[in-house]
Amino acid sequence: MQLESDRVAWHSSKVSKQSRQLSNGHGSCVLWFTGLSGSGKSTLAAELELALHELNCKSYVLDGDNLRLGLNRGLGFSQADRSENIRRIGETARLFVDAGFITLAAAITPYQADRELLRTRFGQDEFIEVYVRCAIEECERRDPKGLYRKARSGEIRQFTGISAPYEAPRHPELEINSEKVTVAESVSILLNYLRSRGCLPAEGKAGG
Ligand code: ADX
Repeated sequence: MQLESDRVAWHSSKVSKQSRQLSNGHGSCVLWFTGLSGSGKSTLAAELELALHELNCKSYVLDGDNLRLGLNRGLGFSQADRSENIRRIGETARLFVDAGFITLAAAITPYQADRELLRTRFGQDEFIEVYVRCAIEECERRDPKGLYRKARSGEIRQFTGISAPYEAPRHPELEINSEKVTVAESVSILLNYLRSRGCLPAEGKAGG
């Protein structure tokens, strides 16, 4: 059976990803923050975005919670809905990487298979999996949105770590233990990693 999408072709832009990167003075890639709710993904992504902005780099956060208010509105937390949620964030991230951005995706992304699939949608050096590790006990203690309490009482079902699985990454490019490393230290680890990969200039600001 021929799918309708088989009859659609990608139109190449006259401005290539490489020429965008050249004029930006830095590379583009996605840092994909995965971890339990409350582990610190969004906080870390937001601080890194700010640090990159101050270095004159084009950066943008795609936050799971935020995207569920628009692009992913209507998706729930079944395995199938989470996979579709992740697929859409991934495709959006792909466009941002093509546009020359250092893209920061922050979503629980609990399933290994979804993360493996994501990786196949990017170039070899473009997908950087960052596991924000934090014990469930600590996430539950932080409980910034009061969701763990609701999950325990049964008010919220299929809650990651309580009544739905979180499959920890096996070989992430980076692992950050948010119980041991401060946000500022984490940002500097991430910036250094981007420099070591040649995505950021060795020192100084991009574009001047
Ligand atoms: S994912 O599993 O599909 O990657 P995503 O990161 O987009 O999840 O959304 C998770 C956010 O939705 C959490 O930070 C929390 O605020 C909220 N949430 C509401 N219900 C659930 C649930 N059942 N499991 C996990 N997160 C939930």
